[in-house]
Amino acid sequence: MTSTQPATVFITGASSGFGAATARRFAAAGVRVIAAARRVDRLDDLAKELGPSALTVALDVRDRDAVFAAVALLPPEFAAVDVLVNNAGLALGLGPAQEADLDEWDQMIDTNCKGLTYCTRAILPGMVARGRGHVINLGSVAGTYPYPGGNVYGGSKAFVHQFSLDLRSDLHGTGVRVTSVEPGMADTEFSTVRFGGDKEQADAVYAGMQPLTADDIAEAIYWAAAQPPHVNVNRIELMATAQSFAPFQVTREG
Ligand SMILES: NC(=O)c1ccc[n+]([C@@H]2O[C@H](COP(=O)([O-])OP(=O)(O)OC[C@H]3O[C@@H](n4cnc5c(N)ncnc54)[C@H](OP(=O)(O)O)[C@@H]3O)[C@@H](O)[C@H]2O)c1
Repeated sequence: MTSTQPATVFITGASSGFGAATARRFAAAGVRVIAAARRVDRLDDLAKELGPSALTVALDVRDRDAVFAAVALLPPEFAAVDVLVNNAGLALGLGPAQEADLDEWDQMIDTNCKGLTYCTRAILPGMVARGRGHVINLGSVAGTYPYPGGNVYGGSKAFVHQFSLDLRSDLHGTGVRVTSVEPGMADTEFSTVRFGGDKEQADAVYAGMQPLTADDIAEAIYWAAAQPPHVNVNRIELMATAQSFAPFQVTREG
């Protein structure tokens, strides 16, 4: 490990997809990993794989008190978090707004927006006090480019994008960096969760094309974190080569 590399990373949503891949990527570089998520069995398997440099934390990021307690109770060797990867998040449903389930909208807002702010607020004071740190937020191309059924998911990721920029302003002069990583379609459990566990519907999303992988995203996150301290990567937007933009929709009369 060099002096510019982080020593400790806190990753939310580490039980699957980008979060698990990011945990493996940082651990491979000799970084201590705090892996947080709700599914403890998954985290236990990951911890066995990563060895003693990994700590697992059972955490629902929507629970504000639990977030602050988890950070306060970190053992001393893990307490100085250099990098926070705010990755926990989800999309639920792909129907039009006028038919949406409000409980699903609440869960996306509570996780993708509010949970991310709780984790940030809990860990940031330590980073500022140490004059070093990096907050890496998982946004999405859905936060920039609309698509039918994106509605609240897209809105929640637009929040992540703007919150990241505003954090940078607040943290000016502190030495703490902020990056928003905004991927396009990537083959994780994301679509299975979005479609309520329907694996067939999820697989159809990636049929016949090469999506991004969790490792692609982990590499981008690690790259941003491994830059020398005078470099702040503001935003990384990456998509599968096979995915690009739709035309505007036009309703024609007659
Ligand atoms: N895959 C894509 O196409 C894609 C594209 C752009 C952005 N993203 C974003 O990337 C992030 C990771 O997604 P992924 O693709 O890796 O999906 P994934 O495989 O479904 O992983 C999502 C992770 O978030 C965790 N999570 C969900 N709700 C949580 C909560 N309330 N508290 C704590 N952890 C929670 C899950 O863990 P538990 O269920 O164990 O809690 C899981 O580890 C998300 O923010 C997603 O919006 C994904």
